[in-house]
Amino acid sequence: MKSVFVAFASIVIACATAPSQTIRLEDIDLSAMDIGWGSPQANLSVDGNPISIAGTKYAHGVGTHAVSKCLLTLNGNGRSFSASVGVDDEANDRASVEFMVFGDRKLLWKSGVMKKGDPAKVCTVALEGIKLLGLYVGDAADGIDYDHADWADAVVSGMGNLSPHDLTAGNAAENNEQILTPPAPETPRINGARVFGARPGHLFLFTIAATGKRPLRFGEVGLPQGLTVDPASGRITGTVFAAGTYPVRLTASNALGSTERELRIEIGDRICLTPPMGWNSWNCWACAVDDQKVRSAADAMVSSGLADHGWSYINIDDCWEIKPATNDSLLRGEARASDGRINTNRKFPDMKSLAEYVHEKGLKIGIYSSPGPLTCAGFTASYLHEADDARQYASWGIDYLKYDWCSYGKIAKDRSLPELRKPYAVMRRALDAVDRDIVYSLCQYGMGNVWEWGAEVGGNCWRTTGDIVDTWSSMSGIGFGQAGHEVYAGPGHWNDPDMLVVGLVGWGPSLHPSNLKPNEQYTHISLWSLLSAPLLIGCDLDRMDDFTKNLLMNDEVIAVNQDPLGKQARRIFDDGATQLWVKDLEDGSKAVGLFWVGGGGKDPVDLFKWDGATSRKITVTAQQLGLTGPFAVRDLWRQKDLGVFVQEFSAEVGYHGVVLVRISSAGGGR
Ligand code: GLA
Repeated sequence: MKSVFVAFASIVIACATAPSQTIRLEDIDLSAMDIGWGSPQANLSVDGNPISIAGTKYAHGVGTHAVSKCLLTLNGNGRSFSASVGVDDEANDRASVEFMVFGDRKLLWKSGVMKKGDPAKVCTVALEGIKLLGLYVGDAADGIDYDHADWADAVVSGMGNLSPHDLTAGNAAENNEQILTPPAPETPRINGARVFGARPGHLFLFTIAATGKRPLRFGEVGLPQGLTVDPASGRITGTVFAAGTYPVRLTASNALGSTERELRIEIGDRICLTPPMGWNSWNCWACAVDDQKVRSAADAMVSSGLADHGWSYINIDDCWEIKPATNDSLLRGEARASDGRINTNRKFPDMKSLAEYVHEKGLKIGIYSSPGPLTCAGFTASYLHEADDARQYASWGIDYLKYDWCSYGKIAKDRSLPELRKPYAVMRRALDAVDRDIVYSLCQYGMGNVWEWGAEVGGNCWRTTGDIVDTWSSMSGIGFGQAGHEVYAGPGHWNDPDMLVVGLVGWGPSLHPSNLKPNEQYTHISLWSLLSAPLLIGCDLDRMDDFTKNLLMNDEVIAVNQDPLGKQARRIFDDGATQLWVKDLEDGSKAVGLFWVGGGGKDPVDLFKWDGATSRKITVTAQQLGLTGPFAVRDLWRQKDLGVFVQEFSAEVGYHGVVLVRISSAGGGR
């Protein structure tokens, strides 16, 4: 055995110095492979099993999931690419994929549609002279369900100095982490929402978000009767009984100066007048969440400075309840007390004290359930106990409920509109019966065009899609797929394209830096802000690097999301490679996103249109914006005025990136 190993090692060394060499696909930086679900796996299927196609096992290769894209920079040093491709045996019968190989944006080979059980097809492609090699797995035009796809024994043979690192170096060129957000000034500045709604007679909590050298002192003029502001923390608390609209002047001062800003408090039926901003446990911890992790998220929300920019919700997702079918002693137990009250599992020993802990920091707390008997992860849910649960949430002090369809799929008779609406209306009634403001977040992945009726059943927001993951295809597919939904959103009722995937994510317990490249992360935050989407951070708040903080603490970008007019952006231009999105703002200005999506759509040829350029000029015209006179442009990420323009404005936009600007009339009409 030993001598075989030595012999193998010397071949590898010999290859490294010889003019011709082979590189196995699994040896490249697999974060360069963008995939539709999960993460690409070296020498394993996407689910982590040995690679297996139609019963044949392969020791080498990469397991991926449609839609999967990988661009490798050969610079003419390649000789051939070969692989055995097919659907992995772990998939089910719904799987159907098509493998394609591109060279310099031309299709060189395709497998045709392949299904589970089809024997592997051998692909051999000559690469002489090719600069960019594109490996693509499409969904065969029937959606990506179970599309587990293997590039088995995939090898690039080449000449010269080809190395695994060089193959993905082109992608790394756009990976410079550039911090654009200037630091907040030391003088006081009030940030965050400019309008806040609460119901009469309910507990009120709004923390003034403000930056500036500490200590800051807060004051107000015009708070309605029943509310007071704590001068040291800026927390406004109390209860207002009289419905009405109250314009309040908030003030903040420190040793360097003072500032003031209006907050419109609306006491009435409507809450959630701007998209909720906060943190949710799922995209980082998934079922590894526990009381301590939630407390530490609350601590970090404050200590990192996020709270000073308006971030306020700390939301527990799935896995806090009892899990009926498990041997895990932490999760086992009686699902409910004899009076119907739901029990927590041992990872959450005292939900009320946890809620108090979060509230004492001036933050709010959210929880999660399903209208079915079980949550998506198989924990106890609210079916036939909706009123018990709403009462329990209120008595714990919960401020936000994410209500996730999951096992209700087995209860619903069919997927007709009445059946889709029913469970959400039932929980709405239960929430209405408690004397606490609880933001109601519907989660059913967009079934039955939920955006058309989510507000009618009393949702404050509704997920429009399946689950997001930290890949370009997932994020951009979801984000840019929101076009047309803008007519359904407004103050108190928002489209929810799922949570943010920046920072350290991973669906716990182990985490990894988001696979989105820096440009893609700017696109993610800019697009979600334009879309008036709930902003729920899905990373470990304790371990945010400076780049992640820069993404999440830009007050001018956040102001786009939190604009009181509550108008979601609409897409005004899309040529497959570039898109323009416009959001009307309360002061008459417009936030405009100029995006270079670089063919992030479904068309694989489009995808590989990238010619290696790192930026591209994108133009928006006055006519497209409906402007008739000169207009002023401000770069929101850099917080910098760019000047006054007349006919059009152009910007250099990075690959998969964005330039986000605010455009206001500069005289002469708009
Ligand atoms: C579904 C939801 C996710 C998350 C999980 C929890 O997949 O869409 O956001 O809440 O359930 O199990």
